[in-house]
Amino acid sequence: MELMNKLFEAAKANKQRIVLPEGEEQRTIIATEEIKNQGLAYPVLIGNQEKIMSMAKELNVDLSGVEIIDPNSYEKIDEYVKAFYEIRKNKGMTMEKAEKIVRDPLYFGTMMVKLDDADGMVSGAIHTTGDLLRPGLQIIKTTPGVSVVSSFFIMMVPDSPYGENGMLLFADCAVNPNPTYEQLAAIAIATADTAKNLCKIEPRVAMLSFSTMGSADHELVEKVRKATELAKELRPDLMIDGEMQLDAAIVGKVAAQKAPNSQVAGRANVLVFPDLQSGNIGYKLVQRFAGAEAIGPMCQGFAKPINDLSRGCSSEDIVNVVVLTAVQAQAQNK
Ligand code: ACO
Repeated sequence: MELMNKLFEAAKANKQRIVLPEGEEQRTIIATEEIKNQGLAYPVLIGNQEKIMSMAKELNVDLSGVEIIDPNSYEKIDEYVKAFYEIRKNKGMTMEKAEKIVRDPLYFGTMMVKLDDADGMVSGAIHTTGDLLRPGLQIIKTTPGVSVVSSFFIMMVPDSPYGENGMLLFADCAVNPNPTYEQLAAIAIATADTAKNLCKIEPRVAMLSFSTMGSADHELVEKVRKATELAKELRPDLMIDGEMQLDAAIVGKVAAQKAPNSQVAGRANVLVFPDLQSGNIGYKLVQRFAGAEAIGPMCQGFAKPINDLSRGCSSEDIVNVVVLTAVQAQAQNK
C-alpha cells in the first residue's frame, strides 16, 4: 500500500475542504473523526446538527471542531438556490423546484463544491452511483476539453506479477453504460492521465475486447478498434494499444504469441473495458476471486472532484476516498 501512504502524506501537506453529504450516516461519522484526527482534510458534514452529535455520542466519536451544515438553516441557502436555478433554467428548472432540490444533501454538497465553499465531495454510503453522478453532471460538469465523465478503480491484487507489481487501473466500471468509440477513446486518455498524475506510474493502456489485433471481426470489436485508433491519434505521447484480450494484455507469454509488436501487450497496467457491463463484472471478478482491494470507483473528468462510495463501504474506505478526492482537488486547485 505504498501508493496510499504517499497519498495520505500528500493530503496532509495541503489540507482540502471535503464535504460529506451523508453526515447522518454511521460509517461517515466514524470516518470523519479519523480524517480529523489524522489531519487528512477539513471534513464538512451535511445534516441535522443535533442528530449527528447524538449519533456521535452513541458511537463514542469526537466531532469537536468539525463543521456541520444543515441546508435548512444555512445562511447562504438563497444564494445556492438562485445559482442552481441559473445553471439549470435552460433545462426547465423553476425557482420553486430549485428551492426544494437544493436542500437535498447531495445537491447541496454539489453546490458547495460548485461555489467554492468546498474543494471536493464524497458520498455514496447510502446513495446509488446515479444519485451522486446526476447532480455532478448537471452542476459541476466536465473539465474544459474533456468530453465525458468516467470512473476508474485502483485494483491492488495481492502477490500478483501483473500490472505494476499487482496494481492496475480499471476503467470505466461505474459510469457510462455503453460508450461510443469517441467516448471510449476519451476514457482511455483520462485513465492514462490519472495513472500518471495520481498514481505516479507510466501508463500502458490496453483496450480490451474478445479479439486480439484483428483475430475476430464484429461490430463490438470494431468499436474498440476505432477507439484505439482515435486515442492514439489524439495522444501520440501515450502508450495505448488494442484491441486485445485480457490475457494478451497482461501475460507476457500470451502477448508474445498474439501481439508480438505491441509495446503494451503483456505488461498493461491500465485496462479499458469496452462497456459498463464488462467493466463492472470485470472488477468484481478480480475483487472476489483474487482477493484484490478495489479502491473506488473514483470519478475522472469532472471540473471539480466528486466521488462515489460503494454502499457496502467501510469507514476505512470512506477515509481512503476522501484522501484521493483531496489529492485530486490539490491538482485541480494548482
Ligand atoms: N459525462 C458527461 N456528461 C454526462 C455523462 C457523462 N458520462 N452522462 C450524462 N451526462 C450529462 C447529460 O448530457 C446531461 O446533461 P444536461 O442535463 O446538462 O443536458 C446530464 O449529464 C444528465 O444526464 P441524464 O441523461 O439526465 O442522466 P442519465 O439518466 O443519463 O444518468 C448516469 C447519467 C447517472 C451517469 C447514468 O448513465 C447511470 O446511471 N450510469 C450508471 C451508474 C451505475 O449504476 N453504475 C454501476 C454501479 S457502480 C458500482 O458498482 C461500483
